[in-house]
Amino acid sequence: MSGHFISFEGIDGCGKTTQRKLTAAWLREKGLQVVETFEPGDTALGAEIRSLLLSGEHIPQPETELLLFLADRTQHVREVIQPALQRGAVVLCDRFSDSTRAYQLAGRALDAQVLEQLLKTAELGVSPALTLWFDLPVSDALIRMRSRVAGGETASRLDEEQQSFHQRVCDAFTAMFEAEPARWRRIDAATDAETVQQQVRDVLKGVFS
Ligand SMILES: Nc1ncnc2c1ncn2[C@@H]1O[C@H](COP(=O)(O)OP(=O)(O)OP(=O)(O)O)[C@@H](O)[C@H]1O
Ligand SMILES: [Mg+2]
Repeated sequence: MSGHFISFEGIDGCGKTTQRKLTAAWLREKGLQVVETFEPGDTALGAEIRSLLLSGEHIPQPETELLLFLADRTQHVREVIQPALQRGAVVLCDRFSDSTRAYQLAGRALDAQVLEQLLKTAELGVSPALTLWFDLPVSDALIRMRSRVAGGETASRLDEEQQSFHQRVCDAFTAMFEAEPARWRRIDAATDAETVQQQVRDVLKGVFS
């Protein structure tokens, strides 16, 4: 496959979506073909799965939750990511398998080996070459999320989890970054959006020079 697959990762409210949009605009200005996408829910089937997962109407078992996220991923890879990479596009993906590792493993204590096997199956052989980790302390993310809710957005079921859960997820991102430095780049997300974007560009200049 000839495209570039870049994932945006980090805890809720760390700025992934904000930075994905800024990055896409910058790469498009450079004349690159960019596909912006996200998980869960960026296919028709996935949107239904997203609503099952995040509406708060259902409280799934941990394994049920995992399998729903993975079902969304397989559909997403097949319908969106794989075709885009085959066309040679840059795919900017807001969350991918590392979010599953962080949330379903660190957050909810599932078996790590079983999880890796399932992730591999769900990915259909497609995984990011580069992962940008937006590192933000949980306390800062909670302030941002509260202001987002105050601005009229509804909090999802996961947004409303306990602070200790968000901290375990944050620690999991730190551990993944440390374990696989060739793929991960840490971005200091505890600063204004423009400065965060500059760090992203500095990393990507190495890829799209
Ligand atoms: N650098 C920044 N400084 C201050 N506020 C920011 C910054 N970046 C984004 N925000 C604001 O913080 C909130 C969360 O940002 P954003 O939605 O981009 O995060 P996210 O990582 O995509 O969150 P989620 O995981 O919940 O989708 C938004 O209200 C956004 O406008
Ligand atoms: Mg987002």
